[in-house]
Amino acid sequence: MNYDIAKPELAGDGALRVEWAGRRMPVLDSVRERFRAERPLDGHVVAACLHVTAETANLMMALRDGGAEPLLCASNPLSTQDDVAAALVAEGIPVFAIRGEDSETYYKHINAVLDHKPAVTMDDGADLATVLHTDRRDLEVIGSTEETTTGVIRLRAMAADGTLRVPVVAVNDSATKHLFDNHFGTGQSTLDGIIRATNLLLAGQNLVVVGYGDCGRGVADRADGLGAKVIVVEVDPVRALEAAMDGFRVMTADEAAAAGDIFITVTGNKHVLRMEHFDRMKDGAILANSGHFDIELDLASLRAASTSRRDVRNNLEEYLLEDGRRILLVAEGRLVNLGAAEGHPADVMDMSFSNQALAAEYLIINRDELEPKIYTLPREIDEQVSSIKLESLGGGLEKLTEDQIAYLSGWQEGT
Ligand code: NAI
Repeated sequence: MNYDIAKPELAGDGALRVEWAGRRMPVLDSVRERFRAERPLDGHVVAACLHVTAETANLMMALRDGGAEPLLCASNPLSTQDDVAAALVAEGIPVFAIRGEDSETYYKHINAVLDHKPAVTMDDGADLATVLHTDRRDLEVIGSTEETTTGVIRLRAMAADGTLRVPVVAVNDSATKHLFDNHFGTGQSTLDGIIRATNLLLAGQNLVVVGYGDCGRGVADRADGLGAKVIVVEVDPVRALEAAMDGFRVMTADEAAAAGDIFITVTGNKHVLRMEHFDRMKDGAILANSGHFDIELDLASLRAASTSRRDVRNNLEEYLLEDGRRILLVAEGRLVNLGAAEGHPADVMDMSFSNQALAAEYLIINRDELEPKIYTLPREIDEQVSSIKLESLGGGLEKLTEDQIAYLSGWQEGT
């Protein structure tokens, strides 16, 4: 078997973590059970470019149970858990991912999974799809799936300019993905990453969240719960107003730069904090990013303006500026929850990855009807996923009466 990982000897440790995560994934378990019986992916190579985590390992095994031949490479150079990569290889699933790999190795690994001529590709950030539309146009695939907001934005841009040549299922757009993974998953794990890297007490700190979308709302809410004084920076007036009515201070980036102790970017946009902001920050300000790419902070300018750099803790770098101020950067400005912690807990990845598995099945079953455009999974899938998850949490679901169904579909009954 062809693979490229860092530490095969960690397979035992990885297997334990994969098993632990699997215990918190009841929805994926139910998909897996049906897959075992029906084998809907039989004989299809599925190439995934996802964060190599214990939750992803459970998805890979579910795909294999559905009859697929899964392969995995990393969707971020810093998010690979080397023990999980080793556990998957020991399971017979090829992985091409090494934590901390450079850009050249990252793309070598993307090409390695594509060399297996996949029928379906799975992305988190659209890197596989981008290579399929540039250097590897020779490959024909049934379709692709996309996990995150930034990837969906890239793929919609491809559809808009007529470049897109394969059907894509935007898994991020399923309600049981973005309402839970982005909100609760990013909310908790982003703070987890910052806390692991700094061991700070968040209570009483001025914590700036840049971007109040699905992820930013979760980060702000969780930071508030830990006693931080949350400040929100937004460009969308509706979301900025929502933040204000949720009880947070809303400021421009300039104002927030001077006030903040900790800064978290989560916009999916480029250079939302730049040198003009770093110039206003307090000595000891901490920067972290939880948006998909490491472009939200203008790090090239920070590095150019600093007189020295040193590692002060694991996943924490300190930049010394000419005026003596120190700016701290968590996890190189890459996804802080995956770089400095373990990513989202299995409890939410359960739903995201059930949607991924069902999206692969959807592409294969409907392959003759699908066109090169962006699809979302049918609402019934969201309802199935949330019903199983709710049941696992011990929640009961109320049912409409016949009378209520008739009332809701009629118009005659008024005051
Ligand atoms: P979203 O589109 O719901 O929210 C982004 C928000 O940022 C929007 O409200 C937008 O108006 C705002 N924004 C854009 N430019 C801005 C600027 N210059 N200043 C202030 N606000 C600005 O997107 P979502 O789902 O919250 O995702 C955000 C990013 O996080 C994406 O890159 C996504 O791929 C990534 N993501 C990361 C995860 C993680 O594990 N860390 C998990 C899920 C998504």
